[in-house]
Amino acid sequence: MRNPFYIGKKFSEEAYVEREETPRVLELIRSGANVVLYAPRRCGKTWFGIALKEELGKTGVTCIWLDLFSIATVREFVESLNEEIIKSFKLGIKGYFTRFLDKYVGSFSVGVGSVSLNFSPRNEDEIYQVLKKSLESIEELSEGNAVVFIDEIQEVVRFDDRFLNVFRSVIQAQNVTYVFLGSRRSVISRLFFETQNPMFKMARKFELSTALPARQTREFIKEKFMETGKKITDEGLSEILKRSALHPYYVQLISSEVWLRTKKIADISAVEEAVESLKQENSFLFQSMIENVRSKYTLTVLRMLMSDELSYNAKNLAKWEIKSPASLAKTLKKLEEEEIIVRSGKSYRILDPLFEEYLMRLFR
Ligand SMILES: Nc1ncnc2c1ncn2[C@@H]1O[C@H](COP(=O)(O)OP(=O)(O)O)[C@@H](O)[C@H]1O
Ligand SMILES: [Mg+2]
Repeated sequence: MRNPFYIGKKFSEEAYVEREETPRVLELIRSGANVVLYAPRRCGKTWFGIALKEELGKTGVTCIWLDLFSIATVREFVESLNEEIIKSFKLGIKGYFTRFLDKYVGSFSVGVGSVSLNFSPRNEDEIYQVLKKSLESIEELSEGNAVVFIDEIQEVVRFDDRFLNVFRSVIQAQNVTYVFLGSRRSVISRLFFETQNPMFKMARKFELSTALPARQTREFIKEKFMETGKKITDEGLSEILKRSALHPYYVQLISSEVWLRTKKIADISAVEEAVESLKQENSFLFQSMIENVRSKYTLTVLRMLMSDELSYNAKNLAKWEIKSPASLAKTLKKLEEEEIIVRSGKSYRILDPLFEEYLMRLFR
């Protein structure tokens, strides 16, 4: 029997738990607002985006999906964009080029596979000319009924500034909706909410929760065990919800491990054992997460946070041997940038529930 719990980039409708944000975000998109969906990594942005795309697709909206993680250069972006346009609108390659890119047809060749294009521009200007034309074609083809999703938008900072300038000039004038998905709060804020940036105010921000809805998640796990001829006790279920903090990735990871270890019935001790084993497995990763922060106060600040003593008060700083308030602020900022901690209101918490348990043991 196949494990019903699943982790990966590839969306699985059977393994998807519906999120509470769906109606609001769909409404925003349908109203024509561009949206930037923010959440730290592994909190379910891509899956949420794909679920939205499927939903919109059902009502006749043409959706285009681009993932900047798999795109290295603006030239490749243009390639992928054209491939996706041709696929999503179910066009013939020839017809599409004749209609929109006739002048540039000599710079493209068709590779093998469903729709695979190779773009060899004659010069840099041509990349941006084709980018503009391709983006413009979306409006014409869809008559204003298209949504373009761009995943991992924080990666756009790798591209030349000219990219965002051209991009903005087109999408600003156009009746096509854009949904951007991204992590790294500081990059997203800079991109969309600082005046000097070309994308300033080009999208409404929507923060996706780091947690799945409890009741639906509970039902989901229970059902998946049942469908595969196994069972999980109520205490076992509660334990999964608690230990995963309802973080989408950890809901799947822990459930998957528990399922694997279960012959007939999973109880609370099965969950405890699964979590222990996952912590062991991930201890290298956790170690390198700490090392990546590169601040001399990383461990101290994590420890302060977990002891609930995160305060700039001079006496407190002296107690933790931190030189200045600025040092504390700097380390917190780095930890936030690495998405190890997340802000909720005025306080911080550790994002990753198993990492938190790992730290708890480390600091014991
Ligand atoms: N709504 C959901 N229901 C169930 N599992 C989910 C859901 N969203 C995400 N996941 C799980 O979390 C993993 C990471 O989600 P993903 O969308 O790739 O995160 P992000 O794009 O924010 O990095 C997925 O592979 C899947 O296992
Ligand atoms: Mg993603």
